[in-house]
Amino acid sequence: KIIILDFGSQYTQLIARRVRELNVYCEIHPFNHLPSFDASVKGVILSGSPYSVRQADAPQIDLQQFHGKIPVLGVCYGAQYIAQHSGGEVSPSEIREYGRANLLFVNQENALLKGIPLDAQVWMSHGDTIKYVPEGFEIIASTDKVQVAAYHIKDSQTYGIQFHPEVTHSLDGQQLIKNFVIHICGCQQDWTPDTFIETTIAALRELVKNDHVILALSGGVDSSVAAVLLHQAIGKNLHCIFVDNGLLRKHEFEQVLDSYKHMGLNIKGIDAKERFYGQLKGITDPERKRKVIGASFIDVFDEAAHAVQQELPAGVEVKWLGQGTIYPDVIESVSVKGPSATIKSHHNVGGLPDFMKLKVVEPLNTLFKDEVRRVGAALGIDPLILGRHPFPGPGLGIRILGEITAEKVHILQQADDIYIRNLRESGWYNKVWQAGAIFLPVQSVGVMGDERTYEYVIALRAVGSLDGMTADWIHLPYELLAKISNEIINHVKGINRVVYDISSKPPATIEWE
Ligand code: XMP
Repeated sequence: KIIILDFGSQYTQLIARRVRELNVYCEIHPFNHLPSFDASVKGVILSGSPYSVRQADAPQIDLQQFHGKIPVLGVCYGAQYIAQHSGGEVSPSEIREYGRANLLFVNQENALLKGIPLDAQVWMSHGDTIKYVPEGFEIIASTDKVQVAAYHIKDSQTYGIQFHPEVTHSLDGQQLIKNFVIHICGCQQDWTPDTFIETTIAALRELVKNDHVILALSGGVDSSVAAVLLHQAIGKNLHCIFVDNGLLRKHEFEQVLDSYKHMGLNIKGIDAKERFYGQLKGITDPERKRKVIGASFIDVFDEAAHAVQQELPAGVEVKWLGQGTIYPDVIESVSVKGPSATIKSHHNVGGLPDFMKLKVVEPLNTLFKDEVRRVGAALGIDPLILGRHPFPGPGLGIRILGEITAEKVHILQQADDIYIRNLRESGWYNKVWQAGAIFLPVQSVGVMGDERTYEYVIALRAVGSLDGMTADWIHLPYELLAKISNEIINHVKGINRVVYDISSKPPATIEWE
């Protein structure tokens, strides 16, 4: 495997994705929490950083642990760090370099740069530059502004590059990463969905043995893939719970339950709609709603877990809680600017209640989202489940502004169903990262036939995004919007107006609450 040491760059996860795309396993570790460098580690990549190596409080590491022993590639800050600690000099650039640049000199004989053409476009993002490199360093690439765009320490396997090969704007970046990971480090390209499935199932059997596991399914990609993996490992000893919180999409509960049963999962559906509506009565504040939905879920899940336990023979216990946690949730982030303010309390749903005292098993906690989908496909999971848009834990609860009632949920479910069906039929569903309808509890005047109406508004939202952190609104065709609006107003009682949300994130968020 490859170890990526993170100095807090916004691109660190991208480096990992690029390495994984080569079917090579890698892990990200924070610079201040070094892993052990045993024989399985074939190489180290040092990330960039918002810090300058010249700052007194800049991140420091003990290079001795791996430098000179296994191949090392420093990217940006990483390259400057190695140069500075080997006797070179790093100084502020006279011109700050951000964006595209071209390599005017490339030593194509060097193992790192094989196949990188002269004039290759690279992506720069740095305020410092390596002014001169110490003896023994060979400059292997330059741009017109940056002489030390890449270096190699002679007779060693240490390399540094000033640009960012992991971003797509560095057009030959993947070739460079491949040169390092495959040719210099000698990694095998055997990290594929099939080998992942095989080794994970074996590891799960070894870990869980004959114990029983309980898992909450949400209908989403992650929990579904986690469940199928566990099911293949331990069969009926996996007990799945699927809760209808009354805030799911139209017919979602029945359909999802059905397809899980089809997949052979040992699953129990629990209708807790009324319980959630009861708990949510009178609550209008979005964060309060999230907390109440999260707490109610834990109560319902806890009862279900106890019921499962009751049905098991004496002496057989549920010992594990299965979760669909994925890699981006567990990467220990390098906090460079202190804890960020809570904008919305995400991921509060499905937390582990302390009193359940279960051990946690997370079969997907080394995978990125796209890898989860690939593993899901290799497991034969329905593409309809794998291709699902993200859906928030609190569900329609945060798409009904203000107080939630069964009546409003019913209206929103119908409008949302028309919207999503039209997106699917027109081929737009897969071009959109996330879409949904929002119920606005404001009434406006309309006219239907000869009658004046005074009804609610539905807002439609469709966004493009990579990870939900930033998002752009999608330019759906007017004809499609016209068709959806017509259908909603004609078929959904209680709605006489439809609007389209044309805000991007930031400054808006994806959900309205
Ligand atoms: P925002 O609204 O913050 O949403 O732009 C970004 C992504 O997060 C999802 N989201 C949630 N997911 N619990 C969740 O599990 C929540 O409370 C929650 N709030 C927002 C949202 O659907 C989008 O994908």
